Amino acid sequence: MSASTLTPEIPDIAAYLKAQERKSLLRFLTCGSVDDGKSTLIGRLLYDTKLIFEDQLAALEKDSRKHGTTGADIDLALLVDGLEAEREQGITIDVAYRFFATDRRKFIVADTPGHEQYTRNMATGASTAQLAVLLVDARTGIMTQTRRHAFIANLLGVEHCVLAVNKIDLVDFSQARFDEICAAFAALTGHFSFTTAVAIPISARYGDNVSTPSPHLGWYRGPTLLEHLETVPVDKGNTAQPFRMPVQWVNRPDANFRGFAGTITGHRLRTGDRVVVAGSGRQSTVKSIVTYDGILAEAGVGEAVTLTLADEIDISRGDVLASADDPPQYADQLAAHLVWMSEDPLLPGRPYLLKSGGKTVTASVTTLKYKIDINNDYDHLAARSLALNEIGMCNLSLSAPVAFDPYKNNRQTGAFVLIDRLTNATVAAGMVEFGLRRATNIHYQATDINKAARAALNGQKPVVLWFTGLSGSGKSTISNLVEQQLFALGHHTYLLDGDNVRHGLNRDLGFTAADRVQNIRRVGEVAKLFVDAGVIVLVSFISPFQAERRMVRDLLEPDEFIEIFVDTPIALCRERDPKGLYKKADAGLITNFTGIDSPYEPPETPELHLQTAGQSPEQLATRVLHLLRERHLIR
Ligand code: ADX
Repeated sequence: MSASTLTPEIPDIAAYLKAQERKSLLRFLTCGSVDDGKSTLIGRLLYDTKLIFEDQLAALEKDSRKHGTTGADIDLALLVDGLEAEREQGITIDVAYRFFATDRRKFIVADTPGHEQYTRNMATGASTAQLAVLLVDARTGIMTQTRRHAFIANLLGVEHCVLAVNKIDLVDFSQARFDEICAAFAALTGHFSFTTAVAIPISARYGDNVSTPSPHLGWYRGPTLLEHLETVPVDKGNTAQPFRMPVQWVNRPDANFRGFAGTITGHRLRTGDRVVVAGSGRQSTVKSIVTYDGILAEAGVGEAVTLTLADEIDISRGDVLASADDPPQYADQLAAHLVWMSEDPLLPGRPYLLKSGGKTVTASVTTLKYKIDINNDYDHLAARSLALNEIGMCNLSLSAPVAFDPYKNNRQTGAFVLIDRLTNATVAAGMVEFGLRRATNIHYQATDINKAARAALNGQKPVVLWFTGLSGSGKSTISNLVEQQLFALGHHTYLLDGDNVRHGLNRDLGFTAADRVQNIRRVGEVAKLFVDAGVIVLVSFISPFQAERRMVRDLLEPDEFIEIFVDTPIALCRERDPKGLYKKADAGLITNFTGIDSPYEPPETPELHLQTAGQSPEQLATRVLHLLRERHLIR
């Protein structure tokens, strides 16, 4: 059953919509644990506001007998658990938006899953919501997840918070129990900036205090849940904020028309307003505002428009048009909150894609300042990584500047997502706190003696020979032989070996995934300096992750990075065990050992793939030299 089948079929649809237009709109989301009864509550709201019809009721009765959990009664949860998979698994797994209305107000509710893993959808639902309904079971009260959801709702700028204390029938409609939960809720919301935060006792299943007062709750003086939703004050979005419009595309049907399409956020826009392109700083005035309804004199928040400007200025997709009086920040370093949504933990130093508005750049976390301790008063804990569902505050460094506002000022231009470059999965939601200006006053210093001059003096083309492979695969032996031969040919070389660099520059690093990322990032930067110095640099590191090897490749010119996969089966490495480390790892004396309890991601398209089994180190070194000769890199 999809959301659309729940929308009533009104004969005079135009009149119906007209009537709806005059009502205010409340966007809210529901969140809670799997068994707290979210779907039942939404089903109850739809049922009580008469959005269920005869045929749906008949289907529901039938389904309730087949899948339901409420015995002979109608299972309202089935009404909203639209996805078949949800029914089979008994959990809700996606964000579903439902529409309903009363005489006083219309509502869009985002039904977000409560399963521990689905913080992602909670953040999606909360980014546009004005109110969050946190559901708890009256028997269990506030749980870790309730605390987490409250934090995320507040972080995402949700203004109002309601604690729906559900299943109050199962604690005999006890006032004492309700008061106890209220006290815990007050302590919780004390940490946040919600405009209103109220607790309401309900039984979604039996309808107590959802839309009608309950005869069993004589002691309760407050509104029903629906009454509260109908009367909580809502403002009309961030109209006090300056105008912003990320350009979604440039519309150029012919030489005479050049329009910039996007959705307005922030303040209303009028023709004649001065606007600026964030970043380039070029200004113009709005000549016309074109919409589906024709040409308008002004347009407001949330409207999709195409703008034409008085001057021909350079604007492309992903640029942000903004009020000239109050432009957004433009920076390549940010301080931001991250809600981590991936099973793979955050690795500071790893490059991710950062997507904000229509713009995508590469970004990595340079410092993880702290993570939030959900269960201990939201304390700040020192952290080196973020795991699934964790929330942290960090500094990010971007490959190019982007235009943004602090999230508290603008929920669109202040938000971004991080995407894994290999899997394309969204791994985090980010909320900008502020831009960091530290890089704006540091410029590249041009030197008179440059890479080309140094390379010419050395009589060679500088390049990185990057050896990757398991511990004991033969990287050091082969790279050592290659360096000897290059040296004999009169080349200027340097060999960076993992074990050696870990005694100096990287002696602060261990073997966790986060430390390995940092290890490779640093050695990559060092290799780049050597290339700049005109040197042929051999790098011999396990470098187990594709993402960081690619990061180093991206630091260099396309022909300056040669990846050499020293491919030795782990059984053979173990047999050789030159440093006795496999023996120790097998005995449990070393943890996070590559190939044993830490992964190795083989290169997919290395420049050279050395399968070492049955080959002598000399033969393998010759193959490297052969490749270099083929590429005219050596004499
Ligand atoms: S990397 O994974 O970060 O690239 P690196 O090449 O610097 O590793 O260091 C690997 C060397 O450290 C190995 O050759 C081995 O001698 C030693 N070592 C010690 N502990 C470990 C471990 N847990 N995993 C892998 N190598 C280890």
